[in-house]
Amino acid sequence: MKTLLILAHPEPDKSIANRRIADGVVAKSKNTEVRDIFALYPDYNIDIEAEQRALLEADTVIFQYPFWWYNMPAILKHWFDNVFDFNFAYGPEGDKLKGKNFLLSFTIGGPADAYSPIGYNHFRIEDFIKPMEQTAYLAQMNFMTPVYEHGMVYIPGVYNTQEAVEERADNHTERLLNVINRLENEDPETKIKGFVKEWFENLDKLTDDGYFNNYIANGAKLSFAEGEFEGHEGFSEWYAGIKKTIKPDNEHRIESINVIAENGHFNVDMSVKLKAETYQGDTLQLNVKENWKVEITRDGRIKIHEYIVNTIN
Ligand SMILES: Cc1cc2nc3c(=O)[nH]c(=O)nc-3n(C[C@H](O)[C@H](O)[C@H](O)COP(=O)(O)O)c2cc1C
Repeated sequence: MKTLLILAHPEPDKSIANRRIADGVVAKSKNTEVRDIFALYPDYNIDIEAEQRALLEADTVIFQYPFWWYNMPAILKHWFDNVFDFNFAYGPEGDKLKGKNFLLSFTIGGPADAYSPIGYNHFRIEDFIKPMEQTAYLAQMNFMTPVYEHGMVYIPGVYNTQEAVEERADNHTERLLNVINRLENEDPETKIKGFVKEWFENLDKLTDDGYFNNYIANGAKLSFAEGEFEGHEGFSEWYAGIKKTIKPDNEHRIESINVIAENGHFNVDMSVKLKAETYQGDTLQLNVKENWKVEITRDGRIKIHEYIVNTIN
């Protein structure tokens, strides 16, 4: 799962909170790309195609900005005005952002109690961001519960200390990372890729066959250079042969992996390089194509229904 964080702060040199949040997120989330739109477009001349390309590649889009005059800074509004274009974000062919997560993440100077019908700002934060909520709906995106923190402005000698603002910024970062992690764990592609990596690590070590059979579905179709096998017994039979032939600590290197959803299953297509030492003293170096058919069950477990391995050379 890829996350795109659109950072919109037109006064970066004065920023404490947003800069710290953006830096904190990239440091800890390896699948998050930050686009600092003021750094990219200080003249507000937005490269619409580049921005749209970045959006197309993302599963989740986070908008990170300071709350300015009960709204977003002008550069971010300008970005929306240009990038969320006809037939891209809306219109008869405007479904390009459909299904992507839309997450507002912003820092608010004023205290929480000011944002209520009896506070000096009269309205709730949720009231101020309604236009953005509707923007997400029109673009068929998934509007997520926004992440925001109050009391984020530091006015020396008047309001807050820098340490208190930084602490709240770190709290905000943690909340954002929790959302990103939750979305990544829910994402089947990420889950399957993580599983495949773990599977091959176990195959490299020649772990006990019980580990693998946890993931093999009853009656699974298994096809290897050594022949056709079926289900748990089939796997154990094939694996016993492998364990007699090659030594532990071999290497399966995943060169490419593609996960495609199809009729409730996932087709996992891989190119793998195998390097192993046999007990007869030979070194095996093989390029194989693997095609797996995988299910994620209702309780979130992975089951392999087809496991087809073709040796290329
Ligand atoms: C031009 C401007 C307008 C602002 N408007 C608001 C506002 O409407 N409500 C509010 O609570 N804080 C407001 N603030 C305070 C900012 O929200 C606060 O400075 C910011 O969230 C801190 O983030 P930063 O350290 O990244 O700049 C405003 C600040 C500026 C500079």
